[in-house]
Amino acid sequence: MSEYDTQTLREFDQKYVWHPFTQMKEWEADAPIVIERGEGSYLIDTDGNRYLDGVAAIWTNVHGHCRREINAAVKAQIDKLEHSTLLGLASDKSAILAKRLVEVAPPGLCKVFYSDNGSTAVEIGIKMAFQYQRHRGEKFAAKTKFITFRNAYHGDTIGAVSVGGIDIFHAVFRPLLFPTIQAPSPYCYRCECGGTGDSETCHRNCLRELETLMEEHAGVTAGLIIEPLVQAAGGMIVQPHGFVRKVRELCTRYDILMIADEVAVGFGRTGTMFACEKENVTPDIMALSKGITAGYLPLAVTMTTRELYDAFLGEYAELKTFFHGHTFTGNPIACAAALASLDLFETDLLLESLTPKIDFLAQRLQSMTVLECVGEVRQRGMIGGIELVRDKGTRQPFAWQDRVGVKVCLEARKRGIFLRPLGNVIVVFPPLSVSIGELEILMDGIEASIREVTQQ
Ligand SMILES: Cc1ncc(COP(=O)(O)O)c(C=O)c1O
Repeated sequence: MSEYDTQTLREFDQKYVWHPFTQMKEWEADAPIVIERGEGSYLIDTDGNRYLDGVAAIWTNVHGHCRREINAAVKAQIDKLEHSTLLGLASDKSAILAKRLVEVAPPGLCKVFYSDNGSTAVEIGIKMAFQYQRHRGEKFAAKTKFITFRNAYHGDTIGAVSVGGIDIFHAVFRPLLFPTIQAPSPYCYRCECGGTGDSETCHRNCLRELETLMEEHAGVTAGLIIEPLVQAAGGMIVQPHGFVRKVRELCTRYDILMIADEVAVGFGRTGTMFACEKENVTPDIMALSKGITAGYLPLAVTMTTRELYDAFLGEYAELKTFFHGHTFTGNPIACAAALASLDLFETDLLLESLTPKIDFLAQRLQSMTVLECVGEVRQRGMIGGIELVRDKGTRQPFAWQDRVGVKVCLEARKRGIFLRPLGNVIVVFPPLSVSIGELEILMDGIEASIREVTQQ
């Protein structure tokens, strides 16, 4: 039990906390749920109400809340060492975790640079790619730019926003951002590729346009950044099969580094440990965070290849050092949680256990397409998205100001389910350890909430 009652905690929150991605005027007018405990797939508030966690603690939770084995690993580490530093010292947990990550990562990624959130993992990838091109010599000095995708989201620091492509979040910061070369992402209704709506044409058009951009800009382009398989914050937009593989081939052909941002899709979310595996791709740089500690503690890594790493080796006076580092880089408690999580992937046979849940999710999403307000359902592995539209025939969206997605999620709360929408897309992103029974409760609750809000 907290030392304060719910009302007092709400007052403290509303008086002192500024919440992320939140219009605080609205927040202050409402009574927030105050979460105090977690148990498996559920969050529990200060009044003892239970909420099925449909967003896995903002896409981080893997093995359920308050998992005994991870708790034990964290507690044991706290009694040994809370933090030292990787600036001038190694640490046992960060060394072991780096080895374990290399063992499970796509082959060829063999070096691990630590940081503490997804945005910094991306920033580090961008800076590495940029500096790598410098180290290759005068001939490559002009390779300073980045190819990005429309509708992409890579985090909220200035570098990560620069490579993003979601106007509603990013437009206001444009004067602060570095310019990029933006390619269409394969999704006909948004990408403006000129296709007629079928995904094959869209896929082809997008790749053609990407190749044209690469041909034109190869001499000035250091890297390309992609969210492989699913553009997450952009609305859980699923890429066509083969897209990531083709992007890899084009990057190789045009001598452009491929940066895979697996912050949202890494650690089992798409059904394999990493999304790139699905298309047998090894990127040159891979950013990971969120699921790395199974949602326990802030930790991130940027992994890369021997070739890229070697380009930074030299005498100190050559100034080839990668001058980047964060205070909590490689924090041992976070690394201990990550190691315990990797153990649980093995002991729980977690990846193997996903197939029936993925199939169940597919079936439930499919059954929702009969609803008049459901324009499209999207799925890749344990990620689902339900797009709500005003008119099914024309795919006319609800006005964003109507906030239909928010209304559905508020309705779901009344049914003991916590969700967070992306505009008018209802996101399904439960802990990977969710049971089929819980998944059923989640999908029943979502469907009932959609019906209630849209009066169907
Ligand atoms: C693909 C992707 N990259 C980067 C980030 C940023 O991660 P963080 O919020 O930990 O900075 C996110 C966050 O949602 C993400 O989805």
